[in-house]
Amino acid sequence: MSKAEGVVGHILLDAETIQGRVAELGRAISVDYQGKDLVLICILRGAVTFLTDLMRQITVPHEIDFMAISSYGIGQRESTGAVRLIMDLKTDIRGRHVLLVEDIVDSGRTIDYLLRTLWARQPADVRVCALLSKPSRRVVEVPLDYVGFEIPDQFVLGYGLDFDEKYRNLPYVGVLHPALMPGDEPAPC
Ligand code: IMP
Ligand code: MG
Repeated sequence: MSKAEGVVGHILLDAETIQGRVAELGRAISVDYQGKDLVLICILRGAVTFLTDLMRQITVPHEIDFMAISSYGIGQRESTGAVRLIMDLKTDIRGRHVLLVEDIVDSGRTIDYLLRTLWARQPADVRVCALLSKPSRRVVEVPLDYVGFEIPDQFVLGYGLDFDEKYRNLPYVGVLHPALMPGDEPAPC
């Protein structure tokens, strides 16, 4: 598979590495949620690719639902903390076991907002499964129950993650080419 020429500087996680780790996460989740009423909540749009692979590695019965949020940025990779819900769940999560499925945890503000929003609806439990985490960028400490990979402070794209809303379709996670590091434009979600 050739790189997205000029956009990807180098490949950080290739497709095989990602798929192997997603299978491990699916196995762990299947053990932990045995006999529980599980609802996977995918955070649009970045986590779509991860959700569809992860759910096929989960062997316990579960439902899926979607939420979309937007965050206002001071640059494409910097959020100010102003997180807003733009699409809510269809599912009533009261008394149920919720697992948030997210592409990447950066400052932690998005997950912090979602955890507070969801806990207010009286679920039995809310946990977080993130494909990627950048611990060195954390502004708000958030509990992450399942993490695919901890990565350094670099802007990444592919496997659901976008650069300027594109390149979500790449089967690998790549580091953005240094010449393209975003400036002061609105943050994509
Ligand atoms: P947080 O609220 O700062 O933790 O940011 C989480 C959101 O920022 C993610 O769901 C992504 O949409 C976006 N984001 C953070 N880092 C990256 C990146 O390296 N590439 C693409 N999107 C990112
Ligand atoms: Mg996202």
